[in-house]
This record gives sequence, structure tokens and C-alpha cells, in this order.
Amino acid sequence: MQKQQLSPKANLSLSNIVLGLWRLNDVPAREISSLIHDGLDLGITSIDEADIYGNYQSQKYFGRVLKEEPSLREKLEIVSKTAIVLPGSPSAKKGLGYYVTTENHIVHSVEQTLKDLNTHYLDLLLIHRPSPLMHPEMLDRTFHKLLKSGKVLHFGVSNFTPSQFEMLSERMETPLITNQIEWSVLHVDPIYDGTLDTCIKNQIKPMIWSPLAGGSLFSGQSERAQKVRKAMNEISAELGDPPLDQVALAWLLKHPSGPIPVIGTFQKERVLSAAKAMQLELTDEQWFQILVASQGHPMP
Ligand SMILES: NC(=O)c1ccc[n+]([C@@H]2O[C@H](COP(=O)([O-])OP(=O)(O)OC[C@H]3O[C@@H](n4cnc5c(N)ncnc54)[C@H](OP(=O)(O)O)[C@@H]3O)[C@@H](O)[C@H]2O)c1
Repeated sequence: MQKQQLSPKANLSLSNIVLGLWRLNDVPAREISSLIHDGLDLGITSIDEADIYGNYQSQKYFGRVLKEEPSLREKLEIVSKTAIVLPGSPSAKKGLGYYVTTENHIVHSVEQTLKDLNTHYLDLLLIHRPSPLMHPEMLDRTFHKLLKSGKVLHFGVSNFTPSQFEMLSERMETPLITNQIEWSVLHVDPIYDGTLDTCIKNQIKPMIWSPLAGGSLFSGQSERAQKVRKAMNEISAELGDPPLDQVALAWLLKHPSGPIPVIGTFQKERVLSAAKAMQLELTDEQWFQILVASQGHPMP
């Protein structure tokens, strides 16, 4: 599998498919280790994490593997995120979830992440969700500090609207080299709301979360899910019967923004199948057939 440079402004490339650990449970370290090794065998070198995943536990589970096999670290690019405070965490004194982008919170969160992961650095840190209270200059100072200390090598954002992205990137010296967004055959908003256009304009590759609609693509019973499945089954028959996950990923990968899907399965054969989506090419007409099925109306 090839790698993609996220932005000409940064020397960071991620594998074309990234493995997301949001759904990671307290499984034995050897199971996580074999998942990572299976991914590496396929060329999947990039891992997506966040401080809050698994109620602040996912990075600890993954970190046990890195502790046992320190040589794995240099073979991987590790992405993590910060800024969300979950209800029930010590910082949520009133019991509600909220977002924090202060220097104190971000630095503390990164230090905890590095400790949990048993690593000295993150390849990429993302602001997990945009806070209305973000100060671009304050964030820039914080990012400079993390960069200077060697704790974080690159920075980006997640779930930012086009105007939030541009507001921040135009006021900061630190390059923001990705926006990690939700996008799938069942969630097509980024095509129309300017999110993907902004990525192309700023020459950054978007990372795509829930690229298989969190599994509802296969099992969803809504009219929309059923229509999209029908269209994808037709297209699969035209293409020699690849499985639907490959059709759904190939649909994303055709977009000129150069999207990088972050998949959430831990099943080896499903990871293998996802990797094969790279070889699948949809025609423009097949691509629009899926879009039309999803949006529920023909192209104007
Ligand atoms: N930035 C953000 O705000 C944000 C938000 C959410 C997630 N993320 C990131 O994105 C990653 C991926 O999200 P996701 O897990 O929702 O991605 P996803 O790949 O769209 O969905 C994964 C789910 O789909 C199921 N699945 C996969 N292939 C299948 C198949 N062939 N048949 C039936 N079910 C199938 C998986 O089940 P099995 O496990 O049983 O295979 C799993 O439950 C997360 O791990 C996280 O790193 C980021």
C-alpha cells in the first residue's frame, strides 16, 4: 500500500488506509499486537487514537503493545486528538461534556497520551472538535511549545467547518495539515458544504472517519441505507462482485481531495478487504449513482 503526504507544508505521510482504535476494548495485548502486525504486513502503518477513546483507556491498551514491542514505534505514524472533556472525567466537575483548547489542557493531555502510549512523540495531534472559545494565537503558542519540546511533530484539526478551518489556519504560523471529518456513502454533506473544497484549496488531505458509516452501511434498515446498498450491489455486479466495503471505500477514494479513510474494524479479513479497495475504480456514472441513491434526489 502506498503512503500519502498530508500536505506539501509537512514531511508527514500516512498509509492510504489508517487503522482507528476508537472501538478498542480491554483485549489481551497479543491480540492488539497481531492486529497491528497484520496491518503492517498490508502496508497500514498509521494508527488513529484520541485521549478520550474507550473512556480514556484505548491509548493505554495500545500502549501496552508499544511497551512490549518498542521497535514497533518507529514503524508507525501515530495520530491522536485532544480538546474534548467527557462527562464523568475529573475535569467535568458539573458532569457535562465540553471542549477545552487552553495551553494547560492541551499540554497536559498530550503528556498523558505519551505516557499512556509509551512513546516520546506523536506524529500528528488534532484538535478533536472546534470550540467556540478557541484563540488562534494561544493555540499557535501551544503548538510551538509542543513542537519545540519534540512531543508533537505535526498538527491538524477534526470536524472543523470550512470557515473554522480557514479562521484558524490563516491566523496561525503552525501549518494545519489535515481535517479529519465524517464522510461516507451515507453521509455526503462534506461534498456540498465546502469541507472537501477547502481541503483542496489548502492542499491538505482529509482523513475520513466512519468511512463505512460505522457499519450501518451493511446493516442499516433506513430507506436511505437500503437504497444505497441496492445501488452498490448493482455496481459490485458490474465490477466483478467486490464486497460492499470495497465499493464504499473506492467511492471515497475517487474524490480529488485525496481522502484517507480511517477504518474501525479489528477483523483481519475486513482490514485485508479494505486494503483491496485501492485497486477498485468506479466510473463517474457509478460514482454519481451512489450519490443520487444517498441524497434521495437526482442531480439537478
Ligand atoms: N475525529 C472524530 O471525531 C472521530 C469520530 C469517530 C471515529 N473516529 C475515528 O474513525 C475510526 C473509524 O470509525 P468507525 O469505527 O466508525 O469506522 P467504520 O469503519 O465506518 O465502522 C467500523 C464498524 O463497521 C463494522 N464493519 C466493518 N466492515 C464490515 C463488514 N464488512 N460487514 C459488517 N460490518 C462491518 C465494524 O464491525 P467489526 O468490528 O465487527 O468488523 C465496526 O463496527 C475510529 O476508530 C476513530 O479512530 C474519529
